[in-house]
Amino acid sequence: MKLVQTWQSTTITTLTDITPTVRELLLRPSDGHAPRWDGGAHLQVHVMVNGAEQTRHYSLVGQPDGEHYRIAVKRMDGGRGGSKAMWTLALNDAINISGPHNHFALELGAPSYLLVAGGIGITPLVTMAQTLIAKKADVRMLYGARTRAELAFLAPLQGLLGDRLQTFVAEENQHMDFAAEIAALPAKAQLYTCGPVPMLEAIRAAWKASGRRLAHLRFETFGSSGSFPAVAFRVVMPRHGLDFMVPAQQTLLEALSDKGVQTISDCKRGECGLCAMDVLSVDGKLDHRDVFLSPHEKAACNRLCPCVSRAEGTLTLDSAWRSDIPN
Ligand code: FES
Repeated sequence: MKLVQTWQSTTITTLTDITPTVRELLLRPSDGHAPRWDGGAHLQVHVMVNGAEQTRHYSLVGQPDGEHYRIAVKRMDGGRGGSKAMWTLALNDAINISGPHNHFALELGAPSYLLVAGGIGITPLVTMAQTLIAKKADVRMLYGARTRAELAFLAPLQGLLGDRLQTFVAEENQHMDFAAEIAALPAKAQLYTCGPVPMLEAIRAAWKASGRRLAHLRFETFGSSGSFPAVAFRVVMPRHGLDFMVPAQQTLLEALSDKGVQTISDCKRGECGLCAMDVLSVDGKLDHRDVFLSPHEKAACNRLCPCVSRAEGTLTLDSAWRSDIPN
């Protein structure tokens, strides 16, 4: 299943390095009109990686002005090359975007909100914090990063939230206590979180253990945070008679599509699980980068989400496609 996309040309009007590895881009659509967006919305962006056009998702940051989109791109040196390509863009360059889309919408009316950001996962939560403060909602934010210098948007967030913002710097041995934070929330409070997969899994486990309604926990990942850098790996699919390499800059889902393997997908961020497929064996290491499969399923290593998950070595896979099922 593929969503129909409408693409639009934009021009980069401002480039600002807000941390050593996070660059903010202001994009002006060619028709001068940027529809309003709500917290949690993102753009899809076309980016050239090694001569091939690829798509990346970037959350919109801050409040809309009707004429621009604001995104922030973290340079991932061990990634698939999209963020590094985004960092080569210059002022007045044109890039194509689709959106805004929102699969991480803020629901107003809860008695209390906890926003939890890890690294570049802060981007959708900036807008949410602004919205909640404007609505005079009860809101706190926990914001973690590896180093203090990597706390993007720190000054405006301090100005906005004051002592309702708490930062955690891993290099300074500061860590969030999810169980205690969740236990301190009033009934029916909502938690919104965005960050790397291990952080989201820890929050989800603590939320489940607390007995709170899962509908009150909303999360989004950036689908690119793995246990090790993206490297090329081999895929064998006996039933399809296929044996091929997935390059470091391509997702497994893209490689399957190039090989003519029928797949279904939607989010392409490791969240919906639509693309999940069977793993027959792993000769090497499997790097689950999704938040759809449970920790138990990940440990069993017999399914993976090819839109984000990768490997080192060789994966033997099977798809959901069956020749006896008409398509
Ligand atoms: S397409 Fe949604 S998890 Fe892969």
